[in-house]
Amino acid sequence: MTSRKILIAPSILSADFAAFGAECAAVESQGADWVHVDVMDGHFVPNITFGPQLCRAIRPHVRGVMDVHLMIAPVDPYIAAFAEAGADILTAHVEAGPHLDRTLQAIRAAGCRVGVALNPATPAEAVAHVLDRVDLICVMTVNPGFGGQSFIPAMLPKIRQLRAMVAGRPIHIQVDGGITPRTAPEAVAAGADVLVAGSAVFRGGSAAEPAAYGANIRALRAAASSVTA
Ligand code: DX5
Ligand code: ZN
Repeated sequence: MTSRKILIAPSILSADFAAFGAECAAVESQGADWVHVDVMDGHFVPNITFGPQLCRAIRPHVRGVMDVHLMIAPVDPYIAAFAEAGADILTAHVEAGPHLDRTLQAIRAAGCRVGVALNPATPAEAVAHVLDRVDLICVMTVNPGFGGQSFIPAMLPKIRQLRAMVAGRPIHIQVDGGITPRTAPEAVAAGADVLVAGSAVFRGGSAAEPAAYGANIRALRAAASSVTA
């Protein structure tokens, strides 16, 4: 059992792409803690989504935390643009370049909270020497690129290992990919405290009819709370 506060971060990758502003407002009104923005470049991952202009456009529609997950390589040339677009958290991938420490320093210097993400095949040790630079570790529980994939159970021991490695530092452990009311309790029991969910939040509703989003978010919270004190 853990007493950690669990945060739900809906990924707008599963939202209606013609209505991002309204979709962000809808999930926040239905209880989302953060809004998770998946930036993909068609190079680091095999899909293309959106960039800093979209972040700037949705910023006025997000009252809380805009959590921007950069699945791009290189990262450094774009940090200032995402910071200026209003990102609160900028997360870069370990695998995105040879100078992770420099990238994380650049995110901090741009005024954002600092996240680092690990692909499924990347070991926890890859972040052992940057723990004092980060506010969040994102454990990819699918291979990044698409919503609606299945949670990879082999990530559970990695989450446990990272929770032990952070050793009481104020670092969030985020899980991203395949999070549902079935997988959320396992991830939380292993040590995750931020649940990114795309398809599990946005299914069944719309910005005009957002009640399903609320029910979906409550279902995730209830499932997570089954393993929190
Ligand atoms: C995957 C993205 C995720 C994705 C999660 O590349 O980083 O944020 O949108 O989608 P679901 O919750 O549908 O697996
Ligand atoms: Zn993501």
